[in-house]
Amino acid sequence: MATPDFTKLNADNIVDFIGGIFLRRGAESYLGEEVTMSQHMLQAARLAEEASSGDELTAAALLHDIGHYTNEFPEELLELGINNSHEDAGAAVLAPFFSAAITEAVRCHVDAKRYLCATDKDYLGKLSIASVKTLGLQGGPMNEDEVAEFRKHPHLDAIIKVRIWDDMGKVKDHTTQSFEHYAPMLQRSVDACRL
Ligand SMILES: [Fe+2]
Repeated sequence: MATPDFTKLNADNIVDFIGGIFLRRGAESYLGEEVTMSQHMLQAARLAEEASSGDELTAAALLHDIGHYTNEFPEELLELGINNSHEDAGAAVLAPFFSAAITEAVRCHVDAKRYLCATDKDYLGKLSIASVKTLGLQGGPMNEDEVAEFRKHPHLDAIIKVRIWDDMGKVKDHTTQSFEHYAPMLQRSVDACRL
């Protein structure tokens, strides 16, 4: 697959670019889960919507795994035991166009798993098998210092919420909205950040 030319992205075409990813790549599998990647991200967005969480959190839930398609490494690497750092790749593509709350929730959704594993004794048991499998690769549960540092994050609340929806958005055959349903909201979020 050719690497997209990210230098051509701007506030007028970023939503179409993301929509194209959902259209062309969304049907691909999601790291051994029972849902496709687009089903997963659309389910997470729906959970945010159902919780009346507002545009930023819904956008973050919808886009949290976009980095699987915007980095140069295939998502299969995670299954092969190599960290593809999709959270950093996704945040880097989104950062010029979306608010910090959105991009930080995307960038930190893996750290949030490590944080919750260290701070919530019931959390690990709620993770999917695939998600438990990648935990070690992603650094394992945070240590005390890491937890203390993570707690200071200005967008901690948004980050944790998106992580919970990420974990819940893996239900086979769950009905969701289409990407198009969210496109106007995404464009609103982009327009709010125009310089
Ligand atoms: Fe995810």
